[in-house]
Amino acid sequence: MRAQIHIQMIDWASDGLPNGRLQTSGNGEISLKRVVVSGAAGFVGSHMCERLVAEGFDVLGIDNLLTGAERNLSHLSSSPSFDFILHDVTRPRDLPGKADFVLHMASPASPKDYMEFPIETLEVGSVGTRRMLELAQRDDAKFLVTSTSECYGDPAMHPQVETYWGNVNPVGPRSCYDEAKRFAEAMTMAWHRSRRVNTSIARIFNTYGPRMKLADGRVVPAFIDQALRGEPMTVFGDGSQTRSFCYVSDLVDGLFRLMLSSEAMPVNLGNPRETTILEFAQVIADLTGQKIKVTHLPLPEDDPKQRQPDISKARRILGWEPVVAMEDGLKTTIDYFRPIVEEELQEAMSGGGSRPQG
Ligand SMILES: NC(=O)c1ccc[n+]([C@@H]2O[C@H](COP(=O)([O-])OP(=O)(O)OC[C@H]3O[C@@H](n4cnc5c(N)ncnc54)[C@H](O)[C@@H]3O)[C@@H](O)[C@H]2O)c1
Repeated sequence: MRAQIHIQMIDWASDGLPNGRLQTSGNGEISLKRVVVSGAAGFVGSHMCERLVAEGFDVLGIDNLLTGAERNLSHLSSSPSFDFILHDVTRPRDLPGKADFVLHMASPASPKDYMEFPIETLEVGSVGTRRMLELAQRDDAKFLVTSTSECYGDPAMHPQVETYWGNVNPVGPRSCYDEAKRFAEAMTMAWHRSRRVNTSIARIFNTYGPRMKLADGRVVPAFIDQALRGEPMTVFGDGSQTRSFCYVSDLVDGLFRLMLSSEAMPVNLGNPRETTILEFAQVIADLTGQKIKVTHLPLPEDDPKQRQPDISKARRILGWEPVVAMEDGLKTTIDYFRPIVEEELQEAMSGGGSRPQG
């Protein structure tokens, strides 16, 4: 029998629970809390589901597999605490059972994906957010939406604090994502204010880790892929633009704490350690045992020059900050990608050549 989980909105900063874990009582009663997670088969969603199951929650994952893959959830398929429904959250469906938490994480997230699916991206941020909010209202559940640092656009303020309103091009190639997320935030606040739904908004900065797709165009898998093949790493511009990279387990811990908090206004979640793209290429070259080789290409349109979260608010209200060192997170990620790249190279040598999605 499982221990009862006491869920109430937690003041993390003053409770000081170690590593964001819930405390459980051992009276043997079964009182699992149920979480509906949209985008469950994606990179971050699959790690979130894993954490929730490990914490003792019942999880219903929903995904239409637009950019995710069922294999990301294969390790959860035998768990009695995990169910999966193949479903597009922009379409109506009366979901079974009662939700205690609704996490709306569904959305293409890599520039390559959202530029390939711009309309789907706008729809999942708008109609999808609305449907998940309706579910939260129906069940009187806590709602959390995963928004993005892209809401800040090419920021004129550095580092970015939650009160900064952003510098977004509403008609540029990235606008389908940026504006979808800004709309999702506005919709969430409207439901919060006018329908009294308990909501939270996470503004996520660049995150990396196992289960990203090798060919999704994001810098971490791209550099690792090229380094493992011994090819030059493609750097856009001169490589002096900065990014800050958060390891996925750190992000998931922040999302988990936010889910159990009563904070309704946006909260930045990301790693404030800022690195230039060139420095980053050097670390990956070192960790893969390669001598650094770089090819420069022109900067894409609307590519932000600097990105760094101010996480003072998350520190203050969630008692959260990233703990995984960049080198450790990258080592784990490289270990995940190495067999995938090796398999591709073997296939290419034996005359195959199709690229599996890592
Ligand atoms: N990974 C990051 O660095 C990052 C940064 C900022 C924000 N985010 C946000 O975090 C969330 C997860 O991102 P990710 O990196 O895991 O992306 P991902 O593409 O790996 O996962 C998104 C998942 O949503 C699913 N999905 C898309 N549209 C859907 C729909 N209509 N119905 C059901 N499922 C749908 C996809 O199939 C996929 O499994 C997204 O909301 C994203 O905007 C991620």
